[in-house]
Amino acid sequence: MSLQPALFLSAHRVRLSGPVDFDGWRRAARNLTLSGVDPADVDWVLGEANPPDPAPEPTGELRVPREFIELSQTVICHSDPERFALLHRVLTRLQKKPELLRIASDKDVVRLREMEKSVRRDIHKMRAFVRFRAVGDYFVAWFEPAHFIVERNTNFFVRRFSGMNWTILTPYRSATWDGKELTFGPGACADDVPAEDAAEDLWLTYYKNIFNPARLKVKAMQAEMPKKYWRNLPEAALIPDLIAGAEDAAREMLRNMPTLPAPHHKTVQARHWTKPEGGPINTEEAASLADLRELAATCRRCPLWQDATQTVFGEGLPNATVMFVGEQPGDQEDIAGKPFVGPAGRVFDETIQEAGIDRSLTYVTNAVKHFKFEPRGKRRIHQKPNAGEVTACRWWLDHELSFVKPQLAVALGATAALSLLGQSVAITKVRGQVVQREDGLRVFLTIHPSFILRIPDPANQQAERSRFLDDMRKVKELIAAIGSGSRADR
Ligand code: URA
Repeated sequence: MSLQPALFLSAHRVRLSGPVDFDGWRRAARNLTLSGVDPADVDWVLGEANPPDPAPEPTGELRVPREFIELSQTVICHSDPERFALLHRVLTRLQKKPELLRIASDKDVVRLREMEKSVRRDIHKMRAFVRFRAVGDYFVAWFEPAHFIVERNTNFFVRRFSGMNWTILTPYRSATWDGKELTFGPGACADDVPAEDAAEDLWLTYYKNIFNPARLKVKAMQAEMPKKYWRNLPEAALIPDLIAGAEDAAREMLRNMPTLPAPHHKTVQARHWTKPEGGPINTEEAASLADLRELAATCRRCPLWQDATQTVFGEGLPNATVMFVGEQPGDQEDIAGKPFVGPAGRVFDETIQEAGIDRSLTYVTNAVKHFKFEPRGKRRIHQKPNAGEVTACRWWLDHELSFVKPQLAVALGATAALSLLGQSVAITKVRGQVVQREDGLRVFLTIHPSFILRIPDPANQQAERSRFLDDMRKVKELIAAIGSGSRADR
C-alpha cells in the first residue's frame, strides 16, 4: 500500500492522506517537534495530500523510544480524531521526559494505553467475526470495525485464507486478495454482500452442534461477542434460543453422558487383578451373601472382568421379598461398584419410589456382574452381553437367589428374563406378566429402564415412563399380597 505523504498547510495545519497515514504523521510530527511547535497549535486534517512543502526540513535528533513507535502504529488506527494530536504531544513530552511511558498514572499515557487496548480488541474481534459468503468461487465478507484496522489486520486473513479469492468490505475501506496480491479500495455498505449463501445452513448446523450448553456463561459470552457484532453474524439468530434452552440441554447431556473411567479406575482394577485366581470358586466357602460378594470380586467365569473396573455385585436387604434384576452394570455403576446408580438407576429409583416401593427393603442386582463396553474415543459405550456371558454369570445370580430367597423376582429387560427363566422372551409381548419357575419363584417381566431413556420423542418417553410406573405399581401390589416388604421375620 502506498501512502501519500503528509503536507504542512498554512501555519500549523497538517493534512494526512488517510486515517492511518502513519508515515505522514511521523514525518510531520518529527518536523513540528524539532521546530518546537506547541502541539496545541497544530490542526490535523484528513484528505488528499498536497504536493510536498518546498521548505527545507528542520534538522536534529529526536528521542523516540522503540516502544513509542510501536504504540503509535497501533494508536493511529483508533477512531478518535484527537489521536494525531495526542501522539504529537507525547512525542514532544518524551524529549524532556524519556521515561514518560513508564508513568502509568500520566493522563496522556493512560489515554494512549486505553486506545491501544481498544484497537487490539477490535483487531481480535475482526479475526473472530468476519464471515465470508460465497459468490460463485469468490468470497465476500462485511465487517464493521470500531477503528481503522483493515490495513493492519488483513495480513492475518491472507495467511489464513491464502487459497481463496476474497474481499473484506468495511464502511471505510475494502481489502481484496486475488491469490497473489493484496489491494485496498474504498469503503462499501452491507448491501454489497449477499444475505446468505449455500454454505450458511451447514455453518448454522455446525454452530448449533459445537454450542456446549454446559459451558454457557452468558456474561462472558456477551463480553466476548458484544451485541453490536450480532447483526453481521449469521449464527447470532440462534443464540437467544440456545441460551433459553441451555439449562435443559445441559441436564439432558449430563443424563446421557457416559462418564470417563474415574482416576482411580486403574487402582481398583489392579487390586482385583492381582488377587490369586485360586482355581474354581468354591461357594461352599460362602456362608453369607457378604462372603459370596467377596468371592465374586475375583470372578473369571467369562472374559468380561478384564476390561471392567470391578465386579458390581448385587446389594440390598439380604432377605428381601423382592429381587430386582437388571442387565449389567453401566458406565457409572462400573466406577461406583454399585448397581443402578447411573441414569437408568435414576429412572428406576424415581419410578419405584412413586409406586410406593422402598428400595432399601429390596435386593437389586444384575444378570451380568461386569460392565461390557466398547471404547470409542474417550468414551465407553455399553455393549449387550451375549448368551454365553449371561450363562456364565447366571451362576452368581443363582447363588444370590439361594441366599436371599426372594418370593418375587422382577426381570428388568430381556437379559434379566433370559437369566431368570433360562430362555429368551419378547419383553414387549410379555411385559406385566408373572411367570412361575419350577422352583416356585415368581418372575415379573417388564422393560429395562434404559429403554425409556433411549426414546427420543419427549411425549413418547413420558408415555413409556407411565407404563413402567404401572408395572411397578403391580409389583407393589404383588409385594403387598405376599405380606411384609422385608422378611425380617424369617
Ligand atoms: N443397567 C443395568 O441393567 N444395571 C445397572 O446396574 C445399571 C444399568
